[in-house]
Amino acid sequence: MARRKVAAAKPKKVVKSIIKKRSVRTGTNRPAQIKADPKVTAPYNNGWPELPPPSTEPWGQAGKALEGVRILDFTHVQSGPTCTQLLGYMGAECIKVERPGVGDITRGQLRDVKGADSLYFTMLNGNKRSITIDSKHPKGKEILERLIKHCDVLVENFAPGALDRMGLTWDYIHKTNPRMIVASVKGFGPGPYEDCKVYENIAQCAGGSASTTGFREGPPLVTGAQIGDSGTGLHLAFGIVTALYQRMRTGRGQRVLCAMQDGVLNLARVKLRDQQRLTHGPLTEYSQYGEGIAFGKAVPRAGNDSGGGQPGWILKCKGWETDPDAYTYFITQAPVWGAICDLIGKPEWKTDPDYATPPARLPRLRHIFNTIEAWTTTMTKFEVMEICNKHDIPVGPILSMNEIAEDQSLRATGTVVEVDHPIRGKYLTVGNPVKMSDSLTEVRRAPLLGEHTEQILTEALGYSAEEYAAIKASGAITPPEKKETEAA
Ligand code: COA
Repeated sequence: MARRKVAAAKPKKVVKSIIKKRSVRTGTNRPAQIKADPKVTAPYNNGWPELPPPSTEPWGQAGKALEGVRILDFTHVQSGPTCTQLLGYMGAECIKVERPGVGDITRGQLRDVKGADSLYFTMLNGNKRSITIDSKHPKGKEILERLIKHCDVLVENFAPGALDRMGLTWDYIHKTNPRMIVASVKGFGPGPYEDCKVYENIAQCAGGSASTTGFREGPPLVTGAQIGDSGTGLHLAFGIVTALYQRMRTGRGQRVLCAMQDGVLNLARVKLRDQQRLTHGPLTEYSQYGEGIAFGKAVPRAGNDSGGGQPGWILKCKGWETDPDAYTYFITQAPVWGAICDLIGKPEWKTDPDYATPPARLPRLRHIFNTIEAWTTTMTKFEVMEICNKHDIPVGPILSMNEIAEDQSLRATGTVVEVDHPIRGKYLTVGNPVKMSDSLTEVRRAPLLGEHTEQILTEALGYSAEEYAAIKASGAITPPEKKETEAA
C-alpha cells in the first residue's frame, strides 16, 4: 500500500529524467549515479542507494536491458558471435571488427545464395555493426585503442594467444581502459590442452557429451544442438552480464573466460552425477538395467532413455514408414500410469504386480514401450500429443526443422523471426529465446562486411572527414589488394 503511494507520488517528468540520466554515458562508462531521495527510494532499494525509484513508464518502454553497453566484438565463427548476438538482442551496441576484405570466415561458408553472406553468418550476427580493421596495421592498432577506450566489453574467441599477438594483452587493455571487461571463449581452460584450437564437436567429445550420447551398441555420438559453440557463447554472455554488474560496485573490468569443454560439461552435469551414482550400484532408470546388462566403469550411452528417472522412449507414430520424423517422445510418468494403461487398452496392468509399480516395470520397459508404440502408430504425433495432454501424460512430437520453420506460434513469440537482407532477401533467424516483460527485443539483420566502418570511425570515434580519408589511404581498413594498387 505504502509502496504504491510512493510510486504514485513521483511525477512522471522526474522519472523520465532519471531514465535519461541512466542511459547517458559518463566518461567512466558507468551509468550516472542517481541521487535519489532516500525517503522515496528506501522501500525499494535493499541497501542499493543508487537505484532510482521504480519506473512508471509503460512496460517495454523504459529502454532495453543492456542499453548503453558497448561491445567491441572481435568474435568469429559460432561461439563468440552467439554471445554477442544475444547481448545485441538485449540492447547492447555491438561493433564487430573484421579483417578487411575477408571478414568472419563464415560469411563465405555453406553459401546458399551466390554473392550473399551465408545463413551461417547472417543468423549469428544480427543486431551488430561491422567495421573492417587490420588489427596488425599501425593505424589499425590506433583505431583499436580508441575502440577499447570507447567500449565496455571486448569479446573474442580467437585461437589461444592470437589476441596477445595483436598486441592486445590484458595488461595493455586494462591500462588503456581499466573498466573494460575482456571476455574470451577458448577450447580448454588452463591445463595440458590450453593451446589447442577447438571446434564444436571436439568440445562435445571432451566435455563428456559424446561418450554419453547414442546407443549402447554404437559409437559415441555428437548432437545436432551446438552445445559446444552456442552453449559456450551463452555461458559467456552470462559471465559478461555478471561482470558488468560487479563493475557497478568495483568500477573495474575483469577477464571472463569460458572454456568450451567446461561449458559442455556444465550441460552434461547429470552424466557426472550418474558417474558417481555408479559407484553405489547400477543405474536403474537406464534400460540396460532392465535388460540385465551389466554396467562398466563409466556412464554408458543410454539411447533415448529419459534422463530424469521417469522412463521414456521415442515411439513410432502414424506415417513413420515414409516420414523420418513421425515419432513421439513418451514418458511413463508414475502418477499417470493408470491413464496410460486405460488409453493403450491394458487396464489390467494397473493392478498386475508385474506392471503396477515403477520398480516392477523396470525389467519390462522394452515390452511396455513396444505395447505403447502399437497404440501410438495408430495416430499422428500431434494426435498422440492432443490425447495424452488431456490426461497429463508427458509426450512430445519429434518436430522436424521444416515444421519448426513453419510453426506460427514460434513466429508469434518472436522465437523464429523473418529478417530482410539487402543482398540475400528474406531469411529466418532465431530471435531472442529469453522473453522479458520490460525489455523488448528487436531483431535486426546482420551487417555487410565493413558496412559501418565510416560511420563508426567518424560518428562514434570522432575522426574528422580528413582523418577518415587518411585512414582509408593507409590501408588499415581496406583489403590488401587495394593497398597494393594504391602503393603502385
Ligand atoms: N586483422 C588482422 N588479423 C586478424 C584479424 C584482423 N581484423 N582478425 C583475425 N586476425 C588474425 C589473428 O590475429 C590470427 O593471426 P595469428 O595466428 O597470426 O596471430 C589469425 O587471424 C587467425 O585467427 P584464429 O583464431 O587462429 O583463426 P583460425 O581460423 O585459425 O581458428 C578457431 C579458428 C575457431 C579454431 C580458433 O579461433 C579457436 O580455437 N578459437 C577458440 C575456440 C572457439 O571459439 N572455437 C569455436 C569456434 S565456433
